[in-house]
Amino acid sequence: MNKKETFQLEFEEHVKEGLIAFPKFLSSKYIYDDRGDELFQQIMALPEYYLTEAEFNIIDTHKENLREIFSTHGAFDLIELGAGDGKKTKVLLRELVENQTDFTYIPIDISQHAIEELTDSLTTILPNLEVQGEQGTYFKVLERLATYNKRPKVIIVLGSNIGNLQHPKAIEFLKKLKEVMSTKDYLFMGFDQKKDPLTIQNAYADSQGVTQEFNRNLLHRINKEMEADFPVHQFEHWESYDPESGTAKSYLIATEACEVELKKLNLKVNFKKWETIHCEISQKYDDDIVEWLAKESGLEIANIFEDDQKLFKDYLFNTKD
Ligand code: AVI
Repeated sequence: MNKKETFQLEFEEHVKEGLIAFPKFLSSKYIYDDRGDELFQQIMALPEYYLTEAEFNIIDTHKENLREIFSTHGAFDLIELGAGDGKKTKVLLRELVENQTDFTYIPIDISQHAIEELTDSLTTILPNLEVQGEQGTYFKVLERLATYNKRPKVIIVLGSNIGNLQHPKAIEFLKKLKEVMSTKDYLFMGFDQKKDPLTIQNAYADSQGVTQEFNRNLLHRINKEMEADFPVHQFEHWESYDPESGTAKSYLIATEACEVELKKLNLKVNFKKWETIHCEISQKYDDDIVEWLAKESGLEIANIFEDDQKLFKDYLFNTKD
């Protein structure tokens, strides 16, 4: 079975499990086909979605400092997980290239298309940059890199992507990163912060309804790929931020009762009026939570960077063993 077939099978198993369950759930990781990627780009440009601008501000403000830290042990590999279009990273790359830093940029993404586009655009804007794009799942690629390459690594994970994982899964993720790190390596990772609940609520319930379309893409995708007949327009997006746990949860809610047939899965699912499908969590953090996550994963916080408006933080981690 090739990678695409394995992914498709996992997706189908997940949909079956999530729609039979009570309450129903579907993972946001399956939103991201071409249309999903495009909608996420649109979200990042929304005035309410402060995360992108805030992290851009951090990197732009601290780029000199970051360059010095990253080159502490000489030549290094800058490995980015989930590179996407690399908008924020480009600021950092420019800083490194313009100061003749000895490094190779290794963006890793599940999408070959994203890697090719990013590499093409980088060769145009930064012709002196050494890029070695890698298509694949993060850990498979990281493990491979760690075995053949002994140069110090700086692993970067931007955008608070970790927030889409519940704490136990986030710890698993950080532990796996720690396993491929040596004492000369760094991990630079974005964590969106707890703040005025309304700011968070608005970021995920935008006035233009882009986030609704983003979530609905899950249903469009199931319709297309599993011969299903979700009446997508009858499912509305609902966002609920709990300031106590720091968890923003997004749901699709059936505004009418309906029966959905998923022919490919040989499955019929009934929805009551107002029944929910939980689609995503976007966890918000503070220093204590991040410190706890780091401790549980065997990492140490070496430095913390914050944006001017105090909305978002990037943490620099290292490991002592
Ligand atoms: C990719 N991830 C960090 C985004 C977030 O903020 O949780 C996905 C997203 N969902 C709705 N808006 C953005």
